Amino acid sequence: MIEDLTAFYSKAALNMKRSEIRELLKLARRPGIISFAGGLPDPQTFPVNELEDIACHLLQEKGATSLQYGPTEGETPLRAEIAKWMSREKAAIKPENILITVGSQQGLDIVSKVFLDPGDSIIVGLPTYVGGLQAFNAYRARMIGVPQDDAGMKVDLLEKALANSVSEGRKLKFIYVVPDFQNPSGVTMSLQRRKKLLELAYQYEVPVLEDSPYRDLRYAGKSVPAIYSLDNQDQVIVLGTFSKLLCPGLRIAWIMAPAEWMDRMVVAKQGMDLCSPSFTQLLVAEYLRRGLLPRQIEKIRKLYGRKLDVMLKALDRYMPKGVKWSKPKGGLFLWVELPKNMSANTLFPIAIQNKVAYVIGSAFHCNGEGQNTMRVNFSYASERQIDVGIQRLATVFKKNMQQLTETTISSP
Ligand SMILES: Cc1ncc(COP(=O)(O)O)c(C=O)c1O
Repeated sequence: MIEDLTAFYSKAALNMKRSEIRELLKLARRPGIISFAGGLPDPQTFPVNELEDIACHLLQEKGATSLQYGPTEGETPLRAEIAKWMSREKAAIKPENILITVGSQQGLDIVSKVFLDPGDSIIVGLPTYVGGLQAFNAYRARMIGVPQDDAGMKVDLLEKALANSVSEGRKLKFIYVVPDFQNPSGVTMSLQRRKKLLELAYQYEVPVLEDSPYRDLRYAGKSVPAIYSLDNQDQVIVLGTFSKLLCPGLRIAWIMAPAEWMDRMVVAKQGMDLCSPSFTQLLVAEYLRRGLLPRQIEKIRKLYGRKLDVMLKALDRYMPKGVKWSKPKGGLFLWVELPKNMSANTLFPIAIQNKVAYVIGSAFHCNGEGQNTMRVNFSYASERQIDVGIQRLATVFKKNMQQLTETTISSP
């Protein structure tokens, strides 16, 4: 029997890291724990009855095609419906611009496979979506983190990072951004920064990867134009998904890209899975054709908007001085920042003992920073649980603050 499997693994496989979040989520699932850890939609929002009706119709009317292999690019009716959906913000999007993927997570993998050789540089936010970091890491990308504030990625620092890469002779393969209600921070990039980001992308000839699962989940304020809608040089690749609008279990998502960039991505997907499941694609295509999505989104907006409100009020009511948090106008997450001398990582097991869970902020930093930060989800727990859970968190923080003061006072 082979004892040392590592001698057989590829460098890429050895480089892959388990998602810290997925590991933490196992703890967060223990009974009695109020979990703000996952990015789970509230199952109340799943359109079970409509999907049941469409599924029956599909099996009766299109049993043969819906259960057969399909084209790698995706089922034509779904690509057409998504092109129509995306055309709300920019005219002339065609089905040829759409490649259906198994979740946007596969989109991240496909883009990485097509663009990245080991050691290639890319730009990511500090923080950014951990699943993006995981995908890029598997292809051994060199990630350059650019900090953000409450208007999104700091474009002056982006410009410096781009200029540095040029002076070091490194080719940058893409800039990865989650511009709307970012996972993890809830921050939305301002219009001014979106424009500047594009300007820099053109100047330095770097593609932009716009990953925007939360764009339609706005609960207050006015929408900011999508980066792709501002792009007139065909330099933006978009990742879209129905995971947070319909339900994640169908795994229907898409890459939208200029037609001439599509070919390599289709070939990359072919080698992964031949095609996405035909049945769920046709199910979603019919759901969209029936015009059910806008009402569904309205329902979600109302529910999550209320939950966000409850969480913000609870934070105001219970959190001790020194703790800060973002105030998003949409999405699923907010970002909590503890005083610099506190560690969200150290407090995590204590929070679990106190029956509340979050995700440590350092998991979202490509450079391991952000030890005093955490991501908190407000879509999954009930309004009552949100109130109780934030109270529990605040108690954990207060105790830790007290201990830290006592050790400072008692130390010589
Ligand atoms: C920014 C971002 N990109 C991609 C994904 C993956 O989504 P999907 O369920 O479509 O794979 C998520 C999921 O939470 C996300 O937050």
